Parts: sequence; structure tokens; C-alpha cells
Amino acid sequence: MNTVFDINSLARENVRNLVPYMSARRLGGNGNIWLNANEYPIATDYQLTENTLNRYPECQPTTVIQRYANYVGLTPEQVLVSRGADESIELLIRVFCEPGRDAVLFCPPTYGMYSVSAEAFGVEQKKIPVSANWQPDITAIENNLDRVKLIYICSPNNPTGNLIDPAALRQIIELSRNRAIVAIDEAYIEFCPQHTITHWLQDYPHLVILRTLSKAFALAGLRCGFTLASADIITLILKVIAPYPLATPVADIAAQALTETGICLMRNRVAEIVNNRSYLERELTKLELVENVFPSETNYILVKFTDAEMVFKTLWDQGIILRDQRKQPGLDNCLRITIGSRNECEQLINAINVLSSQTQQIKETENP
Ligand SMILES: Cc1ncc(COP(=O)(O)O)c(C=O)c1O
Repeated sequence: MNTVFDINSLARENVRNLVPYMSARRLGGNGNIWLNANEYPIATDYQLTENTLNRYPECQPTTVIQRYANYVGLTPEQVLVSRGADESIELLIRVFCEPGRDAVLFCPPTYGMYSVSAEAFGVEQKKIPVSANWQPDITAIENNLDRVKLIYICSPNNPTGNLIDPAALRQIIELSRNRAIVAIDEAYIEFCPQHTITHWLQDYPHLVILRTLSKAFALAGLRCGFTLASADIITLILKVIAPYPLATPVADIAAQALTETGICLMRNRVAEIVNNRSYLERELTKLELVENVFPSETNYILVKFTDAEMVFKTLWDQGIILRDQRKQPGLDNCLRITIGSRNECEQLINAINVLSSQTQQIKETENP
């Protein structure tokens, strides 16, 4: 008899049980206003200049590394480039965590890939919820450091938008000295550049900083991110990274984005987004359906609605795609909204305004 063999039975147990990260693109939607992936709303204009696609690229393209090192004020030995910050999150686990023995620690609600990457590699996760003010709970972290090799802290945090208090960051880094790596995810730091802690790298050999070109540099489709750390940590990561992590066209465009002109354009974009963010905050606060607009240092804002499900679904059907955060701990009725162009922000406000009046009318008919 021919029994059907289940190929899943060959897969590692943790992979069989793994729920993949539901990125904005995987969630789909039929939108014309995309405010769910913290991207820049307008495509940048770069031309390819490198045509040597018959050749393998450099593992760590010299120009890209040199220019990023200049941009952040570090030496090239302290910089690694990879396929987005997401790859860097994973590379750190591959270098530092022994599956089945070591653990990673992070503080929900936060970026989802710390959990997914740990799960994929069979590494235990210690989830230490943030305290009421969305700051890390230092005592709980200290009490849970057993077996922890890697701590991820996202600052400014996704999806809450707040910065982590530098004093708390320092305490976590001090606590981990000689026992764990602390990775500070600065994916959104260009929106509040004065708060970077890159200059702390000189004091802490176990500190790692994650960066990306996906946000303020408006290059999410390029897939290019950076790891900043001591030369020793970079050397370790280079042992496990793919031989050619960056395609030639990616390196070509990344190098252009990191010229003086590229950086200047990035800063103009940040100013525009911060301006649109103030507009959106101001207008959202006036709306009936909005309970709270949380302060943000980034290119998105977290908003608490009176009925987030209704707002999310109605706007989704109208092609305005937001990010639902209701399943994250402590984020009942919260949606995350990426700051789009001014026109997109206005359309969003109009749509919620219309919804507000409709809800008001229904209420009045029900309770005349
Ligand atoms: C906090 C945080 N870290 C890392 C990433 C991933 O960045 P990249 O596009 O460079 O992989 C994101 C993307 O949304 C993010 O929000």
C-alpha cells in the first residue's frame, strides 16, 4: 500500500510550530494609501551605475562601509552591512546563541522579528513586558538574565514610538557586562538623531547597534541594513554571514544614498515627515473616535481608538491600510499609522472624520 509521506515530519520541530512573521506585505490588502510598514511614501530616484553583473560582488562593499562609517563617525572595522537590519537580528543569534541552551531577552510590545528569529533557531525567549510608561523593567530584566546571551532593545520602540530612557539603556548594558550582548535597534534613529548611542560603542565591547536604509533613507525595497559594534564582534559575524550578502545593484544604490547629497536628501525627508507627523497628531487628537495619540519620535504614531477594529476594517475596505496592534500586550484598541505624504495624512483624517459622523448618527438614531 502506498501511504502518503508527510514531508513536514522531516522538518525541525520548532519550524513545524513556527508562525511566520506577518510582514505588511504578507498581510496583503488592496490599498492605495499604504500606512502599515513605516516606509517613506514616495519612491527615491536612483540610477544603477555598476554593470559588472557577471562578477560576484564584494562581501562587504568597501565604499558602502566607508561611507556609512563616515556617516556615523566610526571606523570601517566597526561596521557590517547586511540584507536589512532583519538579517542582522538573525546573524546575532547565529553567532551568540546555542540552540536549546542559551536565551534571548526582549521587552514586548516591540518589533516582532526578535521573537521569530529566536524561534526559527530554537533559542529560548525571555519576554519581559515593559512597565506602564513603556520603559524596560530593569529589576525584572536583572532577575531573568540566567542563560541570556543576547538582549534586544528597540529605541525608539516599534510600535509604541517612544525612546528608551538612556539611563535605563545604560543600566541594561552595565548589567550585561561580561555575560551578554546588548543589541540596540536604532532603525528609526534618523527621526531623532540626537538620541543615538553610537558613541557608547567605545565604552562597551558587548554593545551592538542595528541600523537600516529602509526608513529615513526611503529604501525599504533595497534591503540594506547595518550592524555597528566592536571590531571583534564584526569579525565574529563575518564568520557566519553569507559569502555575498549584498547584490551588486544594492551596493551601488546604497553607496549613492550615503553620499553627502544622499544624506542631505534624507534629512530633508525627515523634516517633511516630522512636519506631517505634527499635523496628523494635531488632527487626530480632535477626533471623536480617538482616545489617545501617543507621542512619537519616529515616522509612525500609535493611536488608541474607541473601536480600533471598526476603524481598521472600514479604512481597509476604503484602501487605507493601517497596522493593527490589538494583539500586542497592553495595546488594546491600538493601531499604528505610518506618516505618509501630507495628502495621504489629509485623506486619512477625512476618512476617520466621515466615520466619526456616521457612528455619531447611528448612536443618535439608536438613542434619540
Ligand atoms: C525596529 C525595526 N528593526 C528592524 C527592522 C527591519 O529593518 P530592515 O528593513 O532593514 O530589515 C524594522 C522594520 O520595520 C523595524 O521596525
